[in-house]
Amino acid sequence: METNFDVLKEQVLSCTACELCKTRHNVVFGDGVPDAEVMFIGEGPGENEDLQGKPFVGRAGQMLDKMLAVIDLDRTKNIYITNMVKCRPPQNRDPLPSEQEQCIEFLRNQVAIIRPKIIVCLGRIAACRLISKDFKVTKQHGMWFEKNGVQMMGTYHPASLLRTPAQKPAAFEDFTALRDKIKEICTHTY
Ligand code: URA
Ligand code: SF4
Repeated sequence: METNFDVLKEQVLSCTACELCKTRHNVVFGDGVPDAEVMFIGEGPGENEDLQGKPFVGRAGQMLDKMLAVIDLDRTKNIYITNMVKCRPPQNRDPLPSEQEQCIEFLRNQVAIIRPKIIVCLGRIAACRLISKDFKVTKQHGMWFEKNGVQMMGTYHPASLLRTPAQKPAAFEDFTALRDKIKEICTHTY
């Protein structure tokens, strides 16, 4: 495990451990503040993220930023955002289990350094890998699970909300529950 966040970032930026390194333009390490108490974890970079080297900067990212703003969260102020895999899967396919396995050590290291109190999994890929392997977003979104002293929740992926706007009210309920949990257990997010 690396203990210095900048050194870790340099390691990830030069990683060639899985095939995704061959088609990426940029590695997407993460974005946010290093003392965040709340971490958001998506699936993997899309086209815009791959081109800019930042997570959630396309349409789904704009959707996410809007929802975050409703509960006074902002990646420049009080949260950290990253993905299960740091390089874009071609054609935005799901990252393979083997690719997730290669990359997850970097995520573990990010979590070990940031030590968040709350982790929000955005969508099925993150929730299934980090909360429980048969996690069902439609049934279990918004529920809290404790793992190693961290409160974990899965919610809809913002890209899913763009495709299926009928999910938005439920997603907003999840964010309200998140705001309440932050007020309950976090000390410097708000
Ligand atoms: N979707 C994701 O899961 N992550 C991103 O960074 C962008 C879109
Ligand atoms: Fe390395 Fe992760 Fe990129 Fe694969 S996806 S090359 S493991 S940084």
